[in-house]
Amino acid sequence: MANGMTFDEAKHRVDELVTLLDKYSHQYYVLDQPTIPDEDYDRLYRELVNLEELYPTLIQNNSPTQRVGGTLLEGFEKVQHDSPMLSLDNAFSKEELESFDRRMNQLIDEPFTYHCELKIDGLAVSLKYEDGKLVQAVTRGDGTVGENVTANVRTIKAIPLSLKEPLTLEARGEIYMPKSSFLALNQQREEQGEAVFANPRNAAAGTLRNLDPKVTASRNLSIFLYSLPQLSNRDVHSQNDALNLLDSLGIKTNPERQVLSSIDEVWSFVKEYQEKRNSLPYEIDGIVIKVNELEQQEKAGYTVKAPRWAIAYKFPAEEAKTIIRDIEWTVGRTGVVTPTAIMDPVRLAGTTVQRASLHNVDLMKEKDIRLFDTAIVRKAGDIIPEVVRIDKELRNKDSEPYSYPTHCPACDSELMHLDDEVALRCMNPRCSAQAKEKLTHFVSRNAMNIDGVGVSVVTQLYEKELVKDPVDLYFLTKEQFLTLDKVGDKSADNMLKAIKESKTNSLERLLFGLGIRHVGSKAARLLAEEFLTLEGVSTASLEAIQSIEGIGEKIAESIHAFFELEEVKVLISKLEEAEINLSYTGIRKEEVEQVDSFFTDKTVVITGKLEQFKRNDLKERLEILGAKVTGSVSKNTDYLIAGEEAGSKLTKAQELEIPILSEADVLKELNER
Ligand code: IVH
Repeated sequence: MANGMTFDEAKHRVDELVTLLDKYSHQYYVLDQPTIPDEDYDRLYRELVNLEELYPTLIQNNSPTQRVGGTLLEGFEKVQHDSPMLSLDNAFSKEELESFDRRMNQLIDEPFTYHCELKIDGLAVSLKYEDGKLVQAVTRGDGTVGENVTANVRTIKAIPLSLKEPLTLEARGEIYMPKSSFLALNQQREEQGEAVFANPRNAAAGTLRNLDPKVTASRNLSIFLYSLPQLSNRDVHSQNDALNLLDSLGIKTNPERQVLSSIDEVWSFVKEYQEKRNSLPYEIDGIVIKVNELEQQEKAGYTVKAPRWAIAYKFPAEEAKTIIRDIEWTVGRTGVVTPTAIMDPVRLAGTTVQRASLHNVDLMKEKDIRLFDTAIVRKAGDIIPEVVRIDKELRNKDSEPYSYPTHCPACDSELMHLDDEVALRCMNPRCSAQAKEKLTHFVSRNAMNIDGVGVSVVTQLYEKELVKDPVDLYFLTKEQFLTLDKVGDKSADNMLKAIKESKTNSLERLLFGLGIRHVGSKAARLLAEEFLTLEGVSTASLEAIQSIEGIGEKIAESIHAFFELEEVKVLISKLEEAEINLSYTGIRKEEVEQVDSFFTDKTVVITGKLEQFKRNDLKERLEILGAKVTGSVSKNTDYLIAGEEAGSKLTKAQELEIPILSEADVLKELNER
């Protein structure tokens, strides 16, 4: 009864939590319609983790906590597909589609319809469910034999571990990386001097075939299922029925699909999505057209390689030619120096492009990129423009190889090309460009979230020597702010207020803001939750850091090395002097209580001057009881706790008829527990 629950009660609650979390995850990842805030999901998830820690026999194989495999894989076992995973014939023009249509009319010889789908640019997998449980995931491989990637696939939240009905079936589909995740991943890799992925498909493939399931788990892959090759004895007569069945089982299919009855309508569908392509959140490279009825598919039949009843219309690759006029080198916060081509403006996939990423010095050398070359540019995954290749036939005879920078464009110190990196790096810890980037990172939203202090202010503060490192921000005066360009009385006050407010941030924001290599906001949170104070993190042994679930060797070594640095020790004493909170103020793992209270699962807003509590203490106590404490009143607010001189929040709560609690009411509820 360690947490006030009997074993049977805990068992019941675990069942309840697995079902609830499954439901919320389905709404979020499959239907794209979240119904609860992330914090609520996290709280239920932590409750489940705590119960499973207390009663390990209650851990179910399909529990959401069992998605992340802890151990490294040694390799991928080869698995033979039950039936071959075929590929598709391609069409590149309207004429080729019309000739496909004529073939179908001859082979089927009766009226039929087409099922049109988007051709997702990812990689094909086969998922097997037995009695409704996910038991195996295999890549397409050569079509006959693929690789067993089950451990990695289990980490993809859009893939249900259990179906809504206990069916045994195989479903096939395309795993992909959303454009936004691809962008973020490449940006992070560029910043860390690692090779970037050429497009979302390569990123998805590299992620799915990674031997560390934790890497897969951290990279936000998703899936659309598009076929049920061996159907159960269900009422499925067409491709449309098959996808509807998948939907009803909780498996994600692409909603952008249509049954159409003529090739002209198919062509309109193709044109429509060619237009919409750039605004979709994932990459597509064409349209797949399938005969809809299964019986008619059989009539049309197969070749050895592909079904005759389907075809892939491939969109023309959008490329453009332009001339490189200059190459700009920028220094990131970790010192990585990145090249960008400045080109004559050219129209490409819906926008005018003038700058294109050249990624890193190694790629530039490989492509032998020179000034005044004619470049073929494309949008990588239709997102960021990049130089694909150079048209060397158009190269001027007296063109010379590009001379790469040897010194930092910002601080002039010598650049290094480290053995295991593809980029050039400025190693000067006092480099001005790095310092400005570090400051910008420190104030950014996921770090200390200092509103109103943006790139322009940070740059000016640095250039005027008012700020050298992030902690200097806390010693600035209003007069100093007023010396900056475009900063008036009001914005100076606002910035000072935002800086002051950031002093009470929980430790994970500071840890992330310090810009320790490899430490993203997730790792920062894990560290803060584990060690609770900056002192705890800074004095932790390498082993202690490494033993945190979710923190790998590379991250642990980087954290450990960071806190060994003399200048970091100086920075820490400056943080103390500035009276910045150096503790974790979120919910502690062991503190989440499972008992129901008046405040459990309630959304609460605190306003006005409090006499009996310190605002942060009250917030924490409520959170420990399972409440969510937010900053603004809305129709989702359950209670407003109002102290003296409460203003607009009180008025709004009254308007919305939200119950209002005095401090005395709160005390009474807290004491009654
Ligand atoms: S149907 C026998 N539907 O395209 C049917 N494939 O070029 C085989 N793909 O290997 C596939 N979206 O990886 C189908 N809606 C879709 C698809 C799709 C992407 C991929 C799949 C396949 C490749 C064939």
